[in-house]
Amino acid sequence: MSKVNAAITAVGGYIPDFRLTNKLLEEMVDTTDEWITTRTGIKERRILKEEGAGTSFMGIKAVEDLKKNYGVEVDDVDLVICSTATPDMPVASTAAYIATNIGASNAFSYDLMAACSGFLYGLSTGAKFIESGRYKKVLVVGADKMSSIINYEDRATCVIFGDGAGAVLLEPNEEGYGVQDEVLRSDGSGRQFLKIDAGGSILPASQETVELNKHYVHQEGQQVFKFAVTNMAEVSAQIMDRNNLTGDDVDWLVPHQANLRIINATANRMNLDEDKVMLNIQRYGNTTNGTLPLLLWDYQDRLKKGDNLIFAAFGGGFTWGSLYLKWALNPKN
Ligand code: UT7
Repeated sequence: MSKVNAAITAVGGYIPDFRLTNKLLEEMVDTTDEWITTRTGIKERRILKEEGAGTSFMGIKAVEDLKKNYGVEVDDVDLVICSTATPDMPVASTAAYIATNIGASNAFSYDLMAACSGFLYGLSTGAKFIESGRYKKVLVVGADKMSSIINYEDRATCVIFGDGAGAVLLEPNEEGYGVQDEVLRSDGSGRQFLKIDAGGSILPASQETVELNKHYVHQEGQQVFKFAVTNMAEVSAQIMDRNNLTGDDVDWLVPHQANLRIINATANRMNLDEDKVMLNIQRYGNTTNGTLPLLLWDYQDRLKKGDNLIFAAFGGGFTWGSLYLKWALNPKN
């Protein structure tokens, strides 16, 4: 029997309507459009304003989009993974809620938490269920309502993050398309630089934690930048090396959208032309688990069967990695 790879066979996405522009942020904190644009590449980000709607709301919309655009039924989906840093609730599984509400009534489901690398890890994990031969259809949703954990008085973080969700369907492929290889890493000594102090088991919520703003994301940007820029480039070069790929062989870099300067450094290290680098940071900012599937969503009509894609991500923890995938779909148009 030929080798079974996990191929992406459908893509969906959702971004909220409300645009938080750099101009609006200038009115909220001491910042400028010029600073945000030159330091990060971001012009605007989307914010989920619907009352009572959390991460699952966007994840469900992303899967509905996938179902509609690719004519996919989900009642035979085996597994739904939701990669997120902002689950609807601390205990009840967001993935379970998504699975039930999209009609994946025969699936099991769970959340996966690896900060900004969550979707990449989810893609890798989902692929293993397919490669093992045990399961045939796995949905991986990457979704975050970052606005629920951001302090809109902290200019160091509020200019960066946005809300959004994407989803991919993984299915077996015996023609060599799909996930080829991956390099996944983590280093727990980095957690001091990017974290939420309270609300977990170390420092449960109290009146004091609320008053001290300890439920919001805290990031020491420069420290994270240093690790991200080195490590994202390193793993991307590593995966190319061990698969004998040069910059000419790679058709697309699918990089986590945290900072345009980190993305450019990674592309340089890979010897890639600018036009092979997927980008939407200018429009959505950093949607954490949403960045990678939303790139696929935005670029899906430009991808050709057989294209070599290198995914790369870096996030809190620290967590990081890269993944090599051969695109399995012909363009729809
Ligand atoms: O996605 C998960 C992983 N996260 C990342 O990869 C993020 C990595 N880090 C970064 O992308 C960048 O570090 C930031 C975009 C967060 C910050 O850019 P930076 O060039 O590292 O700025 P900085 O933190 O070193 O701050 C430089 C200056 C400081 O002022 P002084 O001390 O030089 O007077 C900051 O106070 O810029 C100031 N600053 C701002 N000024 C205007 C910080 N935030 C702002 C702001 N507007 N929003």
